[in-house]
Amino acid sequence: MKGSMWSQPYLIDLTYAKNFELVKASIRGKNRRILEVGCGTGFMSLELARMGHNVTAIDRDKYLVNLAERTAGTDPYRKTRGDLTFEIANFSTWPGRPGAYDVVFFSRVLHDMLRPEKVLSKAREQLKDFGRIVCLEYAYNLMNRRSATWLYQIRRILEVAGWTRLPHLSERPPVGIDEILRKNSERKQHINSFEEMRKPLERLFHEELLSWHPYYYWDILADMQIPDKREEKSFAMLLRSMEEFLIGSGQIQPALFRFVGVKTRR
Ligand SMILES: C[S@@+](CC[C@H](N)C(=O)[O-])C[C@H]1O[C@@H](n2cnc3c(N)ncnc32)[C@H](O)[C@@H]1O
Repeated sequence: MKGSMWSQPYLIDLTYAKNFELVKASIRGKNRRILEVGCGTGFMSLELARMGHNVTAIDRDKYLVNLAERTAGTDPYRKTRGDLTFEIANFSTWPGRPGAYDVVFFSRVLHDMLRPEKVLSKAREQLKDFGRIVCLEYAYNLMNRRSATWLYQIRRILEVAGWTRLPHLSERPPVGIDEILRKNSERKQHINSFEEMRKPLERLFHEELLSWHPYYYWDILADMQIPDKREEKSFAMLLRSMEEFLIGSGQIQPALFRFVGVKTRR
């Protein structure tokens, strides 16, 4: 937790918890059989099992799966929860359980997986007929000059105040904005674009929902250091609500999307 957002509950409320709410709201019914691909520290699967769902969560990172298992093991009420199993596995080579799941979900994983079409076909195979896929993913290729301009303004204010660990940006707005766009395009390497994810999602599933959500502010919160924690919390809340407003009023193009689709018979 040290040095990460997890050491401040109010930062988690504004970030990971918001993402979890989006996944939770996409899962209907009780006691569902759920597969999470790329669970990381497993917090979403843990919460879903606490709600009574039966969850299998896989991740290829052994360290993270061990952490997830350790966290789940500390739950004193685990016997009253839904089943929860973590596995160390690469989804691409994982044997899977075709036709076993009511829901398969990806949270911030698909953007980084090679051959998304193949990955999503495999996810489809794991679903029962009329099962649902939930994808909560970011597509940084959508960042444009407007979003970068907003980020520049926030970052410079924090930098001038000495309240960020993020790297220095030029004092000249056009140069600093270009720096943000350049760094963003560097991070695009090996990362699927929105279209590379959306096309197979639409081909393989019947779309129920496509929605857009704030996400750029995560990078700022992760490296913010405002000495007064009450002020830090207010600033973090302002940042998130500002991004939400800019998205809602069509002023910036968001990066985080949620797709919910149904496996219909072909
Ligand atoms: C950014 S983290 C997201 C973790 C969590 N789902 C969340 O929303 O916070 C991406 C995770 O996907 C895992 N991952 C990436 N490719 C994978 C693959 N092919 N099979 C299994 N896990 C994978 C990584 O190890 C990492 O833990």
